[in-house]
Amino acid sequence: MSVHKEIKKVTTHQLQEMKRRGEKIAMLTAYDYTMAKIIDHAGIDVILVGDSASNVMAGHETTLPITLEQMIYHASSVIRAIDRALVVVDLPFGSYQGNSKEALTSAIRIMKESGAHAVKLEGGKEIKDSIERILSAGIPVMGHLGLTPQSIYKFGTYTVRAKEEEEAKRLIEDAKILEESGCFALVLEKIPAKLAEKVAQSISIPVIGIGAGSGVDGQVLVTHDMLGMTHEFSPRFLRRYLNLYESMNQAFTQYINDVKSKDFPNESEQY
Ligand code: KIV
Repeated sequence: MSVHKEIKKVTTHQLQEMKRRGEKIAMLTAYDYTMAKIIDHAGIDVILVGDSASNVMAGHETTLPITLEQMIYHASSVIRAIDRALVVVDLPFGSYQGNSKEALTSAIRIMKESGAHAVKLEGGKEIKDSIERILSAGIPVMGHLGLTPQSIYKFGTYTVRAKEEEEAKRLIEDAKILEESGCFALVLEKIPAKLAEKVAQSISIPVIGIGAGSGVDGQVLVTHDMLGMTHEFSPRFLRRYLNLYESMNQAFTQYINDVKSKDFPNESEQY
């Protein structure tokens, strides 16, 4: 008797096929069971358990404080909700930069303890050994170039990256290194659209953009941003599909008023 569900799951191979036939890849973040279930049922291709959980879930200013244990907790909550999407989990800051053995140990913990399908690492040439070592254990790896929030203290700002020729050249070289190392896909964050398109055309693996224009193979947004829950964050690349901050605020205010005015609960809302 099989315990596997019949629903066809998205695989890394399918994402590469999608790039080949020009079908765009849709990716969103999730950090908990309920949100992941709604996103998965809507038909998303990839769910990213991003280390943006550090900001969105825990209220930290940067992605640096989140721990491997916390990422595993978020990832296992997401995995329990998923029928179809490919689930990729960020290796958090400090869990892979030391050496390739540390990177492999962290990736194995994520895969084993959460049931995730792949990991994502920030960086290019400097983490090539770690990527290859993780891949040698059969763990799919997604790369991440451009604005890499784990290096925020090196760069100092969250502004657009690789606007200068020298940095753009390095980014293209890094993208090729990640492809050669065996990454199944690559995230490009906040770089000029023309450069992102050039990268997508010069490598065979899918390139998924955030603030990287339309010439790439797919798009990713932070779910809480696109739902308009984080109303104080308004970069140019962000399209808001809802204004949940407003709707939720109205609902909470109404609830408070209903409790205080003794309108809630009414006759039909009690036993
Ligand atoms: O952590 C995250 O949410 C990310 C996306 C912005 C790509 O890395």
